Amino acid sequence: MDLALPIATERLILRRHEPRDRGAFVALVTDPRFYAHLTVPERQRTPEGAAEVFDLVAGSYETEEPVWGLTVADRATDAFVGTVALHPVPFGEALELFYAVVPERQGEGLAVEAVRALLHALPDRDLVARTPPDNEASARVARAAGMQDAGLERPLGGPERRRFVRPARA
Ligand SMILES: CC(C)(COP(=O)(O)OP(=O)(O)OC[C@H]1O[C@@H](n2cnc3c(N)ncnc32)[C@H](O)[C@@H]1OP(=O)(O)O)[C@@H](O)C(=O)NCCC(=O)NCCS
Repeated sequence: MDLALPIATERLILRRHEPRDRGAFVALVTDPRFYAHLTVPERQRTPEGAAEVFDLVAGSYETEEPVWGLTVADRATDAFVGTVALHPVPFGEALELFYAVVPERQGEGLAVEAVRALLHALPDRDLVARTPPDNEASARVARAAGMQDAGLERPLGGPERRRFVRPARA
């Protein structure tokens, strides 16, 4: 994928995970406030499971199949303040976007700032975000970052989601 890293914004740096981010990543992913409105496998809610996810992503960047999970760091201190991830959508060219901010730093507009930067960095890709209907904060992030609300969808056998899209530039 053609994603030039790091990406700098006014307050943030989006970059690869580094070993120093591991503890903060695990703390975020195992926090019940993180998965309250998400479908997260049981194993991933444990420190061991969350650390496995981190190691998998951090170890994948140089491989044939990198997993595009990134650290969102405070530009001034380099502290881990959240994560963004891009996943290929099966049977298409689109990428699905995921984002999270540590509870202590929520409400500062950081998620919107990170997502905007990612949309801007990938002008030629169709981007999708799917938010659980009760996850108001997540939907607001997608809207504020400039994604279009494409309504509710219920994938076969899956939970209902609100779909947000940002088409590739023509
Ligand atoms: C969703 C999440 C990333 C938002 O992060 P954030 O940095 O606090 O978001 P921002 O400060 O950029 O705020 C974005 C919007 O959400 C609103 N918002 C923030 N927290 C909210 C909450 N708990 N309830 C309702 N709205 C909320 C803000 O008011 C703002 O709305 P506006 O642009 O209309 O004024 C964060 O709550 C989170 O990490 N949640 C857990 C993981 C998750 O659910 N990720 C989404 C996966 S689809």
